[in-house]
Amino acid sequence: MTPTAENQSQPRLLTGDTPTGRLHLGHWVGSLENRVRMQDQYECYFIIANAHAFTTRADQPDEIRQSVLDIAADYLAAGIDPRRSTIFVQSEIPAIAELTFFFAMLVPFGRLMRNPTLKDEIRDKGLGDNYSFGFLLYPVGQIADILAFRPQLVPVGEDQLAHLELTREVARRFNQLYCGVNPQTRDEDCLKAGGLFPIIEPRLGRVRRLVGIGPPNAAGQLLKMSKSLHNAIFISDDPDAVRKKVMAMYTDPNRRRAADPGTVENNPLWIFHETFNPDQNWVRQAEEKYRAGAIGDVECKKKLVDVLVALIEPMRQRRLALEKDPGHVLAVLREGTARANALAGQTLRLAKAALRQNYL
Ligand code: TRP
Repeated sequence: MTPTAENQSQPRLLTGDTPTGRLHLGHWVGSLENRVRMQDQYECYFIIANAHAFTTRADQPDEIRQSVLDIAADYLAAGIDPRRSTIFVQSEIPAIAELTFFFAMLVPFGRLMRNPTLKDEIRDKGLGDNYSFGFLLYPVGQIADILAFRPQLVPVGEDQLAHLELTREVARRFNQLYCGVNPQTRDEDCLKAGGLFPIIEPRLGRVRRLVGIGPPNAAGQLLKMSKSLHNAIFISDDPDAVRKKVMAMYTDPNRRRAADPGTVENNPLWIFHETFNPDQNWVRQAEEKYRAGAIGDVECKKKLVDVLVALIEPMRQRRLALEKDPGHVLAVLREGTARANALAGQTLRLAKAALRQNYL
């Protein structure tokens, strides 16, 4: 189904994920729950950035393919409604690749190399000097992912803000160089002034960075939830897996018995309760008891299992139903990709006209 006239008049939103595995609770609170909610007010585009996955995993095409299908199923299971929102695969949108080339000319090389998100990734993934040219190109590709759809809003996790700032800079430069927009023009007025690209607004989720279920690193910091760190609870985990993970999760290491006073701060057990438990009165009281040595870890963990299973199980049930009908996920991707190509293709035509490279 194509978007109706009324939802095309809604402001547009674009965001997405690099397919590196299934989605977990960090994705949920960082962005996914927001997306499900925002479908009513925004015309939503969700990109599965499979070409980006190749920038660090070019040797794993089968895993990337599987992950694209997993993420599409996770989106649908989480409540993204393909009749209202457009889910699509990056590599099926040629306009993105074409725009990447022109945008690359608007990004100073030194500026790219100082991008903190890129630097963190090089460090966290242990890439050393062994990253490809394509790896450096991916933030430029991400600018094209976004601007091809000319959205107002881009909901992301905190780690993506550097890329979004670059996106804003490229949009301003393009509008000034090729659309005659005066550099003094305020960001919110750039379309009225003849610019092609809006200056997008980032939007952060309720939780900027969810910790994993494992212990802190040598510096005493709890690590971000991530598939590669094996500290994730997935939105497709069954109740038994959730129970095992929670019962084994890291808490206060100095506490041996329920009668020992416990530390609530920096304790994943309580971070999870504060983040996910709908009964925050219980959480506050239980935290007091925990500090006083009046409630056991096991009791609090069991409560957390109930809370998480209540959140995850409806999603998992929807996912099980989808797995019985694999054609459905592909059909959603096919329809979404067609819609995405219509819009991105239009942007490319307008961009080429602005670049004076429309000949035929
Ligand atoms: N780089 C993002 C991530 O790893 C995924 C992504 C690709 C994205 N293209 C995007 C996010 C465009 C927002 C907009 O999470």
